[in-house]
Amino acid sequence: MAKLRFGIVGAGGIAHAHARALRGLGDMAELVSACDAIPAAAEKFAQEFGIATYGGEDALQRMLARQDIDAVSLATPSGLHYAQAGQAMRAGKHVLTEKPMAITLEQADEMIAAQAETGKTLGCVFQQRFHPAAVIVKQAIDDGRFGRILHANAYLKWHRTQEYYDAGGWRGTWRMDGGGSLMNQSVHYIDLMQWLAGGVAAVKGYTGTINHRIETEDVGVAAVRLSSGGFGAIEGMTNNLANTYDRVEVYGTDGMAVIEGGQLVTYFTRAEEIRPTAENAKPSRNLAPQVVEDFRAKHPGWRTGHPAVFAAYIEAVLAGKEPPVGGREGRKAVQIILSIYRSARENREVAIG
Ligand SMILES: NC(=O)c1ccc[n+]([C@@H]2O[C@H](COP(=O)([O-])OP(=O)(O)OC[C@H]3O[C@@H](n4cnc5c(N)ncnc54)[C@H](O)[C@@H]3O)[C@@H](O)[C@H]2O)c1
Repeated sequence: MAKLRFGIVGAGGIAHAHARALRGLGDMAELVSACDAIPAAAEKFAQEFGIATYGGEDALQRMLARQDIDAVSLATPSGLHYAQAGQAMRAGKHVLTEKPMAITLEQADEMIAAQAETGKTLGCVFQQRFHPAAVIVKQAIDDGRFGRILHANAYLKWHRTQEYYDAGGWRGTWRMDGGGSLMNQSVHYIDLMQWLAGGVAAVKGYTGTINHRIETEDVGVAAVRLSSGGFGAIEGMTNNLANTYDRVEVYGTDGMAVIEGGQLVTYFTRAEEIRPTAENAKPSRNLAPQVVEDFRAKHPGWRTGHPAVFAAYIEAVLAGKEPPVGGREGRKAVQIILSIYRSARENREVAIG
């Protein structure tokens, strides 16, 4: 059976999820190597996963010289994704990058151009899209069961300490994180919201840094005009006392859903549910538990998280197809977030072209 052989770039926090995902995919993937600019980090990773790794400033270049690596996954600070993706594709490797794929649109466009130029496959990690809750809602919307989309929200209320921002030296910086609570944490839920609702047409936003010593925002809010003609809101902050809520809501003329913490907590559609009466517009039954149960019964062994992202990416590369979240898809949430920043700076609505 054909498989893809991977090297991981960056051996920090999320690289562990990459390595575990690859190890869990059986015959379709092989974890060959990893590299890190810090030799000690590369060495630790080598011992943990029993692979040869590369450390130091030129570690990536040395790893890319290996002929037994077909693809690299980028688990480095976000500001490095663009240059490393280009370097890897030009060295003949496919690239799966962590979110956000890039921190400027120029970078994202150059990554997309490098894919076209080299014929290699660029994929982006947005693991929330693979959760059954998201897949169920997306399918229902695509089937027309939600009708016209009238409203959509993306909320994230997480907790991040000052120590979190200080560690590693790149979080909360414009140069390497590209933003704060919106670009780093909320990007998953903004992506989910725009994917489910069918795109964002314009934003009007505010951002602030009110509870941490960082360059970028620890809170960002925006009013949203959807491409569907509907409206919505984005709120993302890392100032919560506890690491609690993330939520995406979609409301159509014929259906609505709420996904919280990755779980489908509310779902009903006119087609599947008794029509709410004029007197009591509450749905008589929340169908969420039932649709999730039906989905799981229909799709035994369904993958979520990083394993789902890697599996879908590998299948696409082996089939010579665009992966579910390629460069153009990965760019969308980045564009929305950069538009919120611009809107806040310039105190005006920013249209998304
Ligand atoms: N999908 C998710 O849910 C998720 C979760 C966490 C982080 N991320 C993303 O993953 C990326 C990494 O985040 P993290 O939390 O693992 O960061 P981290 O700081 O824990 O790890 C980054 C690693 O990259 C290494 N590095 C820095 N420069 C390098 C270079 N030039 N060459 C090779 N290695 C280099 C660092 O030494 C460090 O070990 C970020 O883009 C982040 O947004 C995604």
